[in-house]
Amino acid sequence: MKKVLVLYYSRTGNTEKMANAVSEGAQISGSVEVELNFHVDTESLNAYDAILVGTPTYHHDMPVDFKNLFEEAAVQGINLKGKIGAVFGSYGWSGEAPKLILEIMKNKFEMQITEPPLLSKYTPDQKILDACRNLGKRVSESLMNRT
Ligand SMILES: Cc1cc2nc3c(=O)[nH]c(=O)nc-3n(C[C@H](O)[C@H](O)[C@H](O)COP(=O)(O)O)c2cc1C
Repeated sequence: MKKVLVLYYSRTGNTEKMANAVSEGAQISGSVEVELNFHVDTESLNAYDAILVGTPTYHHDMPVDFKNLFEEAAVQGINLKGKIGAVFGSYGWSGEAPKLILEIMKNKFEMQITEPPLLSKYTPDQKILDACRNLGKRVSESLMNRT
């Protein structure tokens, strides 16, 4: 069975709400395995067919956990080439983090990414949560269509 990782960080729950909706959407088909988590070991990244990252923006930057994860993955030579990647997250005014993570996924790891990132200004409303479910669903569906 294909595996989807929804990996997120959230201090005040906004990105977490988005992550829950993305994960819900990804499970709709029932034919992919979805893991919702706020931490994974670098070595385990290999096990997923799609990696969806939820990141808020603090201090114009991504959380240090994600910096460490991607730096470590690069050092260890983890191969993510061709895996599906997408990024979403809550922000307040500038929202840099999702774009930074997408750039890394695309340029360093050569993942097949969905652009642009899905953003919510502070708390996600129903419309954004629907878009999150839809993102998860689309990723699952495209995995099912892969051989
Ligand atoms: C100390 C602090 C720094 C922040 N810095 C930024 C920032 O540089 N750019 C931005 O767009 N939002 C910034 N925000 C707003 C957060 O991104 C926003 O509150 C978001 O909803 C937090 O997501 P979370 O609930 O998933 O943690 C900051 C918030 C705090 C408390």
